[in-house]
Amino acid sequence: MKLLVTGGAGFIGSAVVRLAVARGHSVVNLDALTYAACLDNVATVADNPRYSFEQADIRDRAAMDRILAQHKPDAIMHLAAESHVDRSIDGPGTFIETNITGTYTLLEAARAYWVAQGRPSSFRFHHISTDEVFGSLGSEGQFTEETPYDPRSPYSASKAASDHLVQAWHHTYGLPIVLTNCSNNYGPYHFPEKLIPVIILNALAGKPLPIYGDGSNVRDWLYVEDHADALLLVVQQGAVGRSYNIGGENERSNLDLVRSLCGILDELRPKPQGSYADQITFVTDRPGHDARYAIDPARVSTELGWRPSVTVEEGLRRTVEWYLANEGWWRALQERSGVGERLGVKS
Ligand SMILES: NC(=O)c1ccc[n+]([C@@H]2O[C@H](COP(=O)([O-])OP(=O)(O)OC[C@H]3O[C@@H](n4cnc5c(N)ncnc54)[C@H](O)[C@@H]3O)[C@@H](O)[C@H]2O)c1
Repeated sequence: MKLLVTGGAGFIGSAVVRLAVARGHSVVNLDALTYAACLDNVATVADNPRYSFEQADIRDRAAMDRILAQHKPDAIMHLAAESHVDRSIDGPGTFIETNITGTYTLLEAARAYWVAQGRPSSFRFHHISTDEVFGSLGSEGQFTEETPYDPRSPYSASKAASDHLVQAWHHTYGLPIVLTNCSNNYGPYHFPEKLIPVIILNALAGKPLPIYGDGSNVRDWLYVEDHADALLLVVQQGAVGRSYNIGGENERSNLDLVRSLCGILDELRPKPQGSYADQITFVTDRPGHDARYAIDPARVSTELGWRPSVTVEEGLRRTVEWYLANEGWWRALQERSGVGERLGVKS
């Protein structure tokens, strides 16, 4: 397949790009290269003849029209977004512009391209979204595809809006879409402002390991390469108009997760004295911090046969090993604006 991947220089998009090229697909990586992007994430495929890169903003309709007409993709996998909840609290405007207006612009460009191609039924617009659109769970239950939307942060509200636009373009204009909502990802190339890299890198630097609130918030963790595998399956075999929840069934409270990371670091890079867990510090909670997310992946599992391949224990170990081996990558990104600062506590 020829895939146009938006956001392919980000964390998950780059995993999709690397896996798609490895599996023989042709990939056009379309990315505006915001603060969250890093072209080193796709360095392993940059010279592959089936890979090309376009620096462009999804809000730029003329650029979207030109890129679609030039590359003629069989499918668009749309991952470009503003993705950090804490930044969305301090500055929601860019989340509205990129995640809502940008998705709208891309949908309109995709629709015009699809119509110009003779409305091929094989075309796919695959919108990649998050489980955060479903809101917050109590101690029981899981999100299914039928769970009503109840977003609570500017980030999740902007993603929910974009999901609705994508469904509307299918119902109103017949655009062949598929949609996926995934739980928290982790793994190599995770930008160093997100929880897991922050913990690993602060631990190594001897800094406090910040836990929001009491650390009881639960997330359902999925190794990023398993997510990329699920996305390539859905774009090829998902039913048009259908949404699929993707998750690893690996629930961990933030405190348990951080303790696991400390245990792995204690083993792989022992401190002269004591444990990295001694650096754990409880800090002011994120405003509106959702208590628990958990995905029921039954649909993608029974209808498409997808299963995650990496356990959370193995995935966390691989992730720590990757950060220990790739200091040059993360040191450069730590210089970027806002990285390493506590964001999202302004009222
Ligand atoms: N990280 C997670 O745990 C998670 C979980 C579920 C779903 N998602 C979704 O997956 C997608 C990718 O997430 P991520 O964690 O890889 O994000 P990321 O922040 O690491 O990467 C986003 C990429 O999009 C690009 N981008 C941003 N604005 C753009 C614009 N206007 N035009 C073109 N490119 C632009 C950035 O340059 C960056 O390369 C997002 O849509 C996110 O909502 C993420």
